[in-house]
Amino acid sequence: MKGIVFTEFLEMVDSCMSPEMTEKLIDQCNLPSGGAYTTVGTYDHAEIIALVGALSRETGMPVSDLVRAFGAHLFSRFVALYPKFFEVEDLFAFLESIDSRVHVDVRKLYPDAELPRVECSRAHDNHLAVHYRSGRAMGDLAEGLISSAIEHFGEDVALERQDLSGGAEQYVRFDLVRRSGS
Ligand code: HEM
Repeated sequence: MKGIVFTEFLEMVDSCMSPEMTEKLIDQCNLPSGGAYTTVGTYDHAEIIALVGALSRETGMPVSDLVRAFGAHLFSRFVALYPKFFEVEDLFAFLESIDSRVHVDVRKLYPDAELPRVECSRAHDNHLAVHYRSGRAMGDLAEGLISSAIEHFGEDVALERQDLSGGAEQYVRFDLVRRSGS
């Protein structure tokens, strides 16, 4: 997993909780990296799971809530760091560009990136289905990112999630339906 995921996670804990909490998590987790991440480095995915688990124990908040909140934080950072990706017509066009453009460019920059599949299909003009599939089971992160995308584009959209995982991968289907009038 790319270092940007770790640096942004620790940044979120630093600013939303405290730098002491960040230190505490790193101490508790016995991380192979020692918690010294660089944005361009690559680290074991198990380290982020350990850090989120430790934060959950410390705060009493469920892991899934924390990962969704992290998705929202990450989204705002992506908007600040990579504004070009957000210059699209609307929310559905943005989500359709993840697999065809955004993650493609991420892969060019970081050939070792571990990216999910984020396939989209339009049932009709006002209904987009987003199919998330990954071996890393970060459906909650995807949900946090998608919820923030809805807010970012200011559209009145209902979001529903179905967990359809059956095999080795996690498969989550998100249905986004524009409410009438928007
Ligand atoms: C709503 C839109 C997006 C969704 C749903 C999404 C979904 C995800 C998820 C869930 C992951 C974690 C890895 C996995 O599950 O296998 C991931 C990784 C990543 N995504 Fe996206 N993403 C979105 C937008 C973006 C944008 C705008 C960027 C900015 C350039 C981006 C860059 C990355 C990077 C750098 C990683 C880490 C890859 C690694 O750890 O090796 N994503 N994405």
